Amino acid sequence: MGSLSTKHRPYFWTSTGKKFLMAVSGLALVGFIVGHLIGNLQMFLGQEAVNRYAAFLKSTGELLWVARLGLIAMVLTHIVTAVSLALENAAARPVGYAAKTYKEATYASRTMKVSGLIVLAFLGYHLPHFTLLVTHPEYHHLLDDRGRHDVYSMVVMGFQVPWISGFYIFGTFLLGMHLTHGIYSMFQSLGFQTIILRKRIRPAAIAAGWLLFLGFASIPLGVLAGLIQLPSGGLVP
Ligand code: HEM
Repeated sequence: MGSLSTKHRPYFWTSTGKKFLMAVSGLALVGFIVGHLIGNLQMFLGQEAVNRYAAFLKSTGELLWVARLGLIAMVLTHIVTAVSLALENAAARPVGYAAKTYKEATYASRTMKVSGLIVLAFLGYHLPHFTLLVTHPEYHHLLDDRGRHDVYSMVVMGFQVPWISGFYIFGTFLLGMHLTHGIYSMFQSLGFQTIILRKRIRPAAIAAGWLLFLGFASIPLGVLAGLIQLPSGGLVP
């Protein structure tokens, strides 16, 4: 095939190197997800808190773009290494198993590719929806009484549509499931392969994945339940 033998490959293109890159990019993405959730939970504090936070992020100008480019680089690294490792695994056992035995594998670990792809598809809707404002160009004109972009009302109006809320709940459920296994294997790839890992880190990773899901899902659920409302209290400001 003309590819480099394992011995002569640069470290980051060996299986261990790829797993390391996957873990490091995954760690950075988890960091973003935790930060984003904390920012989003301000929806429960009201319009002023959310719009002030969004305006602050925009005011960081070039720094915001540096962070965005870093995030894009991490997403690409995560995807490229995942695909490459999957191809490597497939090539290592060209004959499919006659009967698959799932001794220790959890449901989440067996469905990492599918859950990862669905999270990607979720982002394919989420970014045009709330960041690029392509799906709802009218959101551009939402301003609060201080003239800032009214991100709070935009999110409430978005989630007042039940199918959109359902889509977000579904997407973040799969993200939570992906993370229950992802966080655990991240520690494994970074070299924490001890009994303690199994005993302590696995339950902690499962708890973290489901807590993140509940945190994200609480926002559309809060809107549908009427706990988070438009400043005017009605359906349209
Ligand atoms: C209920 C769930 C969520 C809500 C309410 C939400 C809300 C938002 C909002 C309002 C923005 C635009 C911020 C602005 O332009 O000021 C945004 C951007 C973004 N969100 Fe979410 N989000 C949610 C879930 C997620 C999840 C689960 C992910 C990742 C898997 C994610 C990734 C992003 C990214 C990458 C951006 C672009 C950040 C940027 O512009 O620099 N979001 N989100």
